[in-house]
Amino acid sequence: SSSSSASRGAFIVFEGLDRCGKTTQVSRLVERLEKEGKTARLQKFPDRTTAIGQMIDAYLRSKADMDDRAIHLLFSANRWECAAAIRRDLANGITIIADRYAFSGIAFSAAKGLPFDFCLNPDTALPLPDITLYLTLSPIIASQRAAFGEERYETDQMQRSTRQQFALVAQEVVKRHGENRWREVDANGGIEEVGDRIWGLLAPLLEEGQGGGLKREVGELWV
Ligand code: TMP
Repeated sequence: SSSSSASRGAFIVFEGLDRCGKTTQVSRLVERLEKEGKTARLQKFPDRTTAIGQMIDAYLRSKADMDDRAIHLLFSANRWECAAAIRRDLANGITIIADRYAFSGIAFSAAKGLPFDFCLNPDTALPLPDITLYLTLSPIIASQRAAFGEERYETDQMQRSTRQQFALVAQEVVKRHGENRWREVDANGGIEEVGDRIWGLLAPLLEEGQGGGLKREVGELWV
């Protein structure tokens, strides 16, 4: 029967700078997967609904100040508190689409000047994404989008250094987990156009899933 040989869900992560259109693409992808008959769940990071997430939310909206390392560890703790549910859902055949993950954690904190290794280490052994799509958008277009500048990290200077750190994060992913785990996506263009680009990049992974390729275990990040 198909149930005894059912493959696990795919773990797909979206990353990018603020205002790159990531959140729009993530919700469209979940809808498209469900239309195709797959069960998919959106997991946003930070997950602002938990107790830790509310502390992060207060920090991001500048309602609370926090030591740079302390807030970094809270972002990581916010992933750890969701890790068991992610593994469980993947095992049950649910595809998880994450809007940001540990890669944002490193890039944004390292951009503030924290050591790269300090930023990377707390997320070691989290569920390893099958693929991360890194959306890139021209900085001029990004800063023209509405609402830029509302939250703590939404300054041109911060976005510039975060972009540099994301390049180092990409190298680290490729070095430790192979080049198939990280894909850059050109996010310039219309919503449909970018959506089709994303769908095209994910097709091999999702077809592999149907063929049973996703029966291999979910890995551990950085291990
Ligand atoms: P959001 O706008 O996607 O909700 O993300 C909120 C901000 O938090 C965004 O500027 C990226 C930043 N961030 C970190 O600094 N560390 C993290 O671990 C994550 C997930 C996000």
